[in-house]
Amino acid sequence: MRKKLLLFLLLSSGILLSSFSIKKDLKMINNDSTKDSTDVKVDSLLTIMTLEEKVGQMNQYNGFWDVTGPSPEGGNAEKKYDDLRKGRVGSMLTVRGTDQVRAVQKIVVEESRLGIPLIIGFDVIHGYKTLSPIPLAEAASWDLEAIKKSASVAAAEAAASGINWTFAPMVDISRDPRWGRVMEGAGEDPFLGSAIARARVRGFQGDDLSAVNTIAATAKHFAAYGFAEAGREYNKADIGTVTLHNIVLPPFKAAEEAGVKTFMNGFNELNGIPVTGNEFLLRDILKEKWNFEGFVISDWASIGEMVTHGYAKDMAHAAEIAVKAGVDMDMESSSYVDELVELVKAGHVDEALVDDAVRRILRVKFELGLFDNPYKYCDPEREKTVIGRKENQQAVLDIAKKSIVLLKNENNLLPLKKTGQKIAVIGPLADDNNSVLGSWRIASEDNSGISILEGLKQYSGNELLFEKGAELLTKKPTFINELEFNTTDKSGFEKAITVAKNSDVVILVLGEHGFQSGEGRSRTALDLPGVQQELMEKIYEANKNVILVLNNGRPLVLNWASENIPAIVEAWHLGTQTGNAVAQVLYGDYNPSGKLPMTFPRSVGQIPIYYNHKNTGRPVDPQPGDNMVFWSHYIDEESSPLYPFGFGLSYTSFNYSNLKVENSFAVNEEVKVSVELSNTGDYDGKEVVQLYIRDLFAKVVRPVRELKGFQLVELKKGESKTVNFSLTEKELGYYDQNGDFIVEPGDFEIFVGTNSNASLKTTFSLQQ
Ligand code: BGC
Repeated sequence: MRKKLLLFLLLSSGILLSSFSIKKDLKMINNDSTKDSTDVKVDSLLTIMTLEEKVGQMNQYNGFWDVTGPSPEGGNAEKKYDDLRKGRVGSMLTVRGTDQVRAVQKIVVEESRLGIPLIIGFDVIHGYKTLSPIPLAEAASWDLEAIKKSASVAAAEAAASGINWTFAPMVDISRDPRWGRVMEGAGEDPFLGSAIARARVRGFQGDDLSAVNTIAATAKHFAAYGFAEAGREYNKADIGTVTLHNIVLPPFKAAEEAGVKTFMNGFNELNGIPVTGNEFLLRDILKEKWNFEGFVISDWASIGEMVTHGYAKDMAHAAEIAVKAGVDMDMESSSYVDELVELVKAGHVDEALVDDAVRRILRVKFELGLFDNPYKYCDPEREKTVIGRKENQQAVLDIAKKSIVLLKNENNLLPLKKTGQKIAVIGPLADDNNSVLGSWRIASEDNSGISILEGLKQYSGNELLFEKGAELLTKKPTFINELEFNTTDKSGFEKAITVAKNSDVVILVLGEHGFQSGEGRSRTALDLPGVQQELMEKIYEANKNVILVLNNGRPLVLNWASENIPAIVEAWHLGTQTGNAVAQVLYGDYNPSGKLPMTFPRSVGQIPIYYNHKNTGRPVDPQPGDNMVFWSHYIDEESSPLYPFGFGLSYTSFNYSNLKVENSFAVNEEVKVSVELSNTGDYDGKEVVQLYIRDLFAKVVRPVRELKGFQLVELKKGESKTVNFSLTEKELGYYDQNGDFIVEPGDFEIFVGTNSNASLKTTFSLQQ
């Protein structure tokens, strides 16, 4: 042990500087069986690193790489190469493919002094090449096992392609569908959001992070990015501490408790302080209160952007603020690699902060097994067999079906008969196999989704007549460019109307383009873009048997459709297997069970609209004839949503009865609740049984309802079952203004039912 220590001292004092002996020593550190704890290995490694090398670990570069060898695109290519060789880079993002990852890893491992492997990050958001539904759609399944499975499929494909770290899950709660990134999250509710955060983290990371089919996950964007004012991307968030602690932070905490390895900052400021430089969030809460042991990465250039925000005077100042606040790795702003060494030397930043950051980063690299074999994720054979394999397709089809939400089904228009029908398939998105993939899919091939028309064609018993009716866009869309909508060309309407007239049923596929949501895609209107509304009205005039299949990445305003169209199916952007999933649901091979994870408004003017709102002092809902103005409402629209949180129909019907709870409990006692659920319709089906509470009076005013439990229950037609819930202090307490969790004695209401408007109610009280 003493010999080793001496060696380290020699090494760190620069006496033994041959790269060969240092790499040998690095190997010894990793293999030393006496050093069984990762922390000891990390500390040993730290002692042989120069300050420059430490700071290098804190630097992440982006790179688009050629297959023939690594060549960062654009500007700075030479500097990036040089930095890789000099050990000034700890991670790369957006490099993908075993050959390309191997090439860049090789530079670092073979040419840098210490050869510390890179950790390779990538936005694996809803699948890698085989795509699952967009995350918001997956949230509509409320099926935690299927969500976990979907993340594990994504991890296996990404890991097979050389990647070992994803920038997912996004766990930002949002109440604003104008914000394009709602597609990437789990919706508006912290309880559902927390459960999904846990499922996704476990899906990506598995039980063994060093396995070749798991990758490190990231909880992002810490914090409050989903509260961007007015839904405008990158805008500031101004929220009180009660909302911060009860709504925004719980899914992050859940991710932390599930063992997520990294956190990412947001671009936003929170109450005047950019979250990238926010010591309160990063040090006080994340690293101290929650004791998070992984590392924090900035968002893309968000350290540098603190200058633009008006919070840092220059890059050096931004780096200083970020490192002090607790950001361990800099994504693409180069502020650490360019400034941090000087900042330490000048005494502005304590080297202990750098050591802490590097320790965290190295620990994750050790846990991934990168020191055992830097190329372990770079097996081209595995890449060929894992990506796109049958079981992956099956898993994404499974979650795609489960993500579909039936919003309306008048006169049982659905499910469709399998034979003897003439079916018109109309709409600009009906034959689109690109848009269905949704936003955020950097690694997947364009047009690799099964379109809804293709999916329907598999059910050949019926005659299908396809007419697009209109184009949605005037130009081929890309992820990067602004979309151009067709607002004038209606030349295809006539043919579509004729086809509609000559059919028994019309399947009308309308919505948003897959690239219309996601980062940088905020909207002020939430209607159907382009000429789609007009097309829908014309088709409905021609044939009333319309089934509207929606493709979208956020809640839309659908008043006209909801009033007129007899059947509406919310099919989001469901990924690779979209067409098959939609066909199976429309034909009743899968009875829809999805429930909205986000409120659908009647009007953009209602936003932010969410189910767990406060009562106000004037919540009165006057009846016709009452003469009342001074209550909390709009004079031109109802206050209620068009479709509430948790809403979703089935082809069968469910009845809830016999809701039971004891009258009173001690604060630390388990509150047991039971309800009887019966399948009263004509089909076997699955129901998401939802339990909401209301704390009737408290030191901090509580919402009118809060989801505190849900269960997926499958029932054959005619079958009944008792469903049990248990509530503990965790569900009954809340965070006060200081972020302290409290459970107060008092009276509670419980609602159990099919959505957040559930009317079956009972009460109990908590006694001191
Ligand atoms: C996004 C992050 C993403 C990063 C890397 C940023 O623009 O906000 O969520 O992980 O880019 O691609």
